[in-house]
Amino acid sequence: MGAVSVRGGVPLQGSVTVRGAKNLVPKAMVAALLAPGVSVLRNVPDVADVSIVAGLLGLHGVGVERDVEGGTVLVDAARVANPDVSEVVTHGGTSRIPVLFCGPLLHRLGRAFIPDLGGCRIGDRPIDFHLDALRAFGAVVDKRPDGLDITAPNGLRGAKLTLPYPSVGATEQVLLTAVLAQGVTELRNAALEPEVLDLIAVLQKMGALITVRLDRVIRVTGVGGLRGYTHRAIPDRIEAASWASAALATRGDVYVAGARQGDLMTFLNVFRTAGGEFDVDDEGIRFWHPGGELAPLALETDVHPGFMTDWQQPLAVALTQANGLSILHETVYENRLGFLDALSRMGATVQPYRECLGATPCRFGARNYTHSAVICGPAKLEAAELSIPDLRGGFSHVIAALAAQGTSTIDGVEIINRGYESFTDKLTGLGADIEPVGCGSAAPPLAA
Ligand code: EPU
Repeated sequence: MGAVSVRGGVPLQGSVTVRGAKNLVPKAMVAALLAPGVSVLRNVPDVADVSIVAGLLGLHGVGVERDVEGGTVLVDAARVANPDVSEVVTHGGTSRIPVLFCGPLLHRLGRAFIPDLGGCRIGDRPIDFHLDALRAFGAVVDKRPDGLDITAPNGLRGAKLTLPYPSVGATEQVLLTAVLAQGVTELRNAALEPEVLDLIAVLQKMGALITVRLDRVIRVTGVGGLRGYTHRAIPDRIEAASWASAALATRGDVYVAGARQGDLMTFLNVFRTAGGEFDVDDEGIRFWHPGGELAPLALETDVHPGFMTDWQQPLAVALTQANGLSILHETVYENRLGFLDALSRMGATVQPYRECLGATPCRFGARNYTHSAVICGPAKLEAAELSIPDLRGGFSHVIAALAAQGTSTIDGVEIINRGYESFTDKLTGLGADIEPVGCGSAAPPLAA
């Protein structure tokens, strides 16, 4: 499927289910590589990164059995073997997860070949923190034209590290390397996102010794060996907030089964401030537009427990419907506001800025990045022809099309499938008028 048509103006009504977090599941699969045994992961969604990691594990001789419908993945890493590098290279540009194979492969094989990374184009997304950390553990990184060749001639030793920014991926890199490194690792300025904590839970089940402090210090004491785990992945809080935003923007009413209040606290406060209603029960959260006008607000993205960057794009569409001026300040990625162009073309009044329009001056101020915006609502959105820029921006386009008058066509929807399993079926179930059209243009294979 390449393109869809969406007839807007229909409030979304009904129920959807979210399964495990896309930003945890593939990493838990990588963690399984650390133990010469069998690990079982439950609540696994059908998203591209799962297949990409399964493929890479397979190339290293690891057994992977997957029950897509039942949402279970079994990883048998009893045996790990050096791969054919030319085959590993074919996974280049597909995802960001392969970089997390470094530590586990160094521990199991003494060498890791990492293909070029993919991922959404929402900023430069360098991996300097990852490589600096690996070097501190004793790894030697050789940059090749088609990837990274990493070795650890003298083994890996615990290290004292401070991240320049609380990067999720770099924190995970350190965890996956430190658990079997010799001695103690202390990581300062670590990311403490729920997905990071769930990865720590997985590693603890495997036998790792990890302590987490609220001041962003993680201490890992290396152990001599790890065992397989059984784990149920935390639900996808980004998908949950995306459905909530879609309900608000379309004046709808959506029950998100699987959504967990604890992971969504900050989102829920903002959702309520904007005028949305929600009701939490044991199985999920109901989100709805209570009628009347939505309220504008000032929104600044941040690392956890701040308002997460991945919630920003879907919610921005609902803010085009609020009565007054809303302010966005994106502080995690320097280039995550490009999707607003489409909203402008659909009739929203949006003014982008290079300045920091938030309480906290961020890393991108005075560096020529358009990372703030003012949205003036309420706007009467009109249908348009849209092309999806990245995963979350893409879902925002879909929400905008659902909220607009008329029929929009949206090209490149494969990108959305990478983070929202069965999203067209779910939308149809919520009463949306959405249909595949033609073949569409080929979209690049990206995962966030
Ligand atoms: N950064 C560096 N150097 C590094 C690593 C990160 O400068 O070596 C910078 C990045 O450029 C960015 C900031 O640090 O400006 C934060 O990046 P982080 O490393 O935290 O992001 P990530 O691990 O690459 C994950 C999610 C993203 C999510 C972010 C923040 C996965 C696969 N991706 O990315 O998810 O936005 O954390 O929570 O877990 C998405 O799901 O759509 C998505 C983009």
